[in-house]
Amino acid sequence: MVEHQRRPGWAEVEDFLSATLVQGGTEMAAVIESIDAAGMPRIEVAPTAGKLLMLLVRIQGARRVLEIGTLAGFSTIWLARGMPDGGHVTTCEYLPEHAAVARRNLDVAGVGSMVDIRVGAALDTLPTLLGGEPYDFVFIDADKSNNVNYLKWALKLTRPGSVIVMDNVIWEGTILDPDADPDAGAIRAALEFMGASPLLDATAIQTAGSKGWDGFAIAVVRQGSATLGE
Ligand code: SAH
Ligand code: DHB
Ligand code: MG
Repeated sequence: MVEHQRRPGWAEVEDFLSATLVQGGTEMAAVIESIDAAGMPRIEVAPTAGKLLMLLVRIQGARRVLEIGTLAGFSTIWLARGMPDGGHVTTCEYLPEHAAVARRNLDVAGVGSMVDIRVGAALDTLPTLLGGEPYDFVFIDADKSNNVNYLKWALKLTRPGSVIVMDNVIWEGTILDPDADPDAGAIRAALEFMGASPLLDATAIQTAGSKGWDGFAIAVVRQGSATLGE
């Protein structure tokens, strides 16, 4: 993990925004407790970002969501909450221990029946999703070294008009100094892939708060494009 260059004010303002705008409910507090209890890393999205995911899913009118990187299901619950009855989330998680914690949290939050957790390395489980209905929304938030590969898979598994969101695209600014961090170069390469791809319209937003200095990239698969990936 990149060291957070925390500045006074950011986290406090985020706490205010969370308390004022994000009513996640006791289920979300329970997810955080489960992460701590299991000794898992506290690398879930911030509550404000989780609710942003929910709103983006709703704005998109998504009914099929793909997530890469489940952890304890914090972002998964927000993604599921953005959809009407009948919506479905497929979420890919490498570690069986994380998937087990997530399964409990999703069930307790009342979205368990909407979510399928695929356990294993995402590059092994994503190919098994080929041939299904395209996904309307993809959230990429797993091992950063595979971000470009995950973008290529997202293109194979979506349709024109689908939305792709990628977490952690600023990484404390190390994307400008890739040698400073092993993941920085891969994150930068993913941004360059998004900018250069004729299949995507993309931008990114920097964030500062409880998770330090980071951000999201957001892309839409272009209308009129064949979604052939590479
Ligand atoms: N999206 C979650 C946080 C995910 S943290 C949230 O915001 O709540 C990243 C997760 O990706 C971890 O649980 C980690 O085990 C998982 N991961 C790491 N490498 C992976 C891989 N190759 N395939 C699938 N998941 C992976
Ligand atoms: C890390 C991973 C994340 O997805 C995140 O949002 C923050 C930190 C990490 O691996 O350090
Ligand atoms: Mg993340």
